[in-house]
Amino acid sequence: MEFFYLLLCTSFLLIATHGLLSFRNWLSISRKLPPGPFGLPIVGSLFQIGDRPHESLMALAHAHGPLMSLRLGFVTTVVVSSADMAKEILQKKDHAFAGRAIPDSATAEANYELSVAWLPPGPLWRTLRKILNTQIMTIQRLDALQGLRNKKMVELVQHVREISVAGREVNIGWLAFATTFNLLSSTVFSINLVDLKSDGAQEFKDAVSRIMEFAGKPNLSDYFPFLRPFDLQQIRRSVKVSYDRLHVLINEIVNQRLQYRELGCARNEDFLDVLLDYSQEHGPEFDRRQVNSLLADLFIAGSDTTSTAIEWVMAELLHNPDKMAKAQKELADMIGTRRAIEESDIPQLCYLQAVVKEAMRLHPTVPLLLPHRAVADVELCGFIIPKNTQVLINAWAIARDASIWEDPTSFKPERFLRSDVDFRGGNFGFLPFGAGRRICPGMPLAVRMVSLMVATLIHSFDWKLPNGMLPHEMDISDRFGVTLQKAYPLVAVPFLHLV
Ligand code: HEM
Repeated sequence: MEFFYLLLCTSFLLIATHGLLSFRNWLSISRKLPPGPFGLPIVGSLFQIGDRPHESLMALAHAHGPLMSLRLGFVTTVVVSSADMAKEILQKKDHAFAGRAIPDSATAEANYELSVAWLPPGPLWRTLRKILNTQIMTIQRLDALQGLRNKKMVELVQHVREISVAGREVNIGWLAFATTFNLLSSTVFSINLVDLKSDGAQEFKDAVSRIMEFAGKPNLSDYFPFLRPFDLQQIRRSVKVSYDRLHVLINEIVNQRLQYRELGCARNEDFLDVLLDYSQEHGPEFDRRQVNSLLADLFIAGSDTTSTAIEWVMAELLHNPDKMAKAQKELADMIGTRRAIEESDIPQLCYLQAVVKEAMRLHPTVPLLLPHRAVADVELCGFIIPKNTQVLINAWAIARDASIWEDPTSFKPERFLRSDVDFRGGNFGFLPFGAGRRICPGMPLAVRMVSLMVATLIHSFDWKLPNGMLPHEMDISDRFGVTLQKAYPLVAVPFLHLV
């Protein structure tokens, strides 16, 4: 008992001393940092941020400016809240801010140090980005695999048709997640991983869902790094089970493909074939561990983000029936009602593209982007940002900046019709995929998947809210997490209208 008491007192003293030292350290560096809220000892501004950081950080930026510093627990953080400042960080000083602040839950993955999302911007990260940009997410590769995704849309329509005939309602978020998973798995592995008819356990999807769920939980270890070894909320331990399971499943799929290749079976020319070819050609520079890790990255980074975006687009269309009618009219005029929409139709559908952009402006799926990190001391606008400072880019706040966007909180797809603003990060007022060297490498595929699925759902069906709910009665609020989810799942009733 005495020993336990001694241990407790020592731990308390250590933590208090560490806290005071860090606080003193913070005071000395804070003189050169951008302005910001002072914060309390030890916890800093954590309580001011609360559970809606995108909103609270925007409010704080109104008081302290678009380049603001604060302390979140023991983590010095700089928050960027204007397009001009985002341009400084993501374009002019991109090289200095391309590091990552790695959340503790991500370190539960056995090979997290191979993940393209968390690697520092060194040679391995550059190799992985080169493979993604030049071998996988190219127009030619994506075009070559679009037939597979069109097939998934036929299955989706068939499934929703059955629901519509039975007069049931659809949980759009669930449907979007399951379908995105199949779009990804057919593009990556040429297989279906989810049975749309069953909402029971489906291992691959469930593992990724749990990884995202745990990644979204506020974690003390992220704000007080000295607590990391203790994993007080058991987040790392719990999520490790899902990471391990995901890797076992990926390993099985890769092993099977290697066997087929040895037997000389026909090639699929999907992402997996491309990665295995590259690995064979480049040997140790890109070995089997890296193939598996990149495959896991694609599913973790690509599934929840894409399906959340689809749910938001559908939510805004149901909330704004006049915009839904316009989007459906465009589809009827351009495609007619006698054939299904295909991915190759999308470039002609200007209004649909504007709808997708506008929904992603109002509800950027990753509202603070992934946390960036200064890789060296950087001079920025007369301030010094010390090495290792975490940098959050509030893409959500920037997309609602009234000095860039007229009537910023309204859903007006028309604003994108006569505009050259695209997803490629050239306009710093619109950053749903980020910008600069860390921009989302999956963007070309993501935009195709979101547009194709929304177009298919509104081309083949009319949608109504359940229980006679009127569009203006819909709750369109959000819930902060790794991805910005709808606070209440979108449920709607489909009515077949394709002849
Ligand atoms: C609508 C869907 C998607 C959205 C909104 C989205 C958004 C983002 C954002 C904001 C980032 C961080 C950028 C930054 O920190 O500056 C990111 C990173 C990333 N995304 Fe996406 N993404 C989507 C879909 C996808 C897909 C389909 C894939 C792959 C199949 C993918 C793969 C990645 C990867 C690997 C990274 C990390 C890149 C790095 O750190 O170098 N994403 N995404």
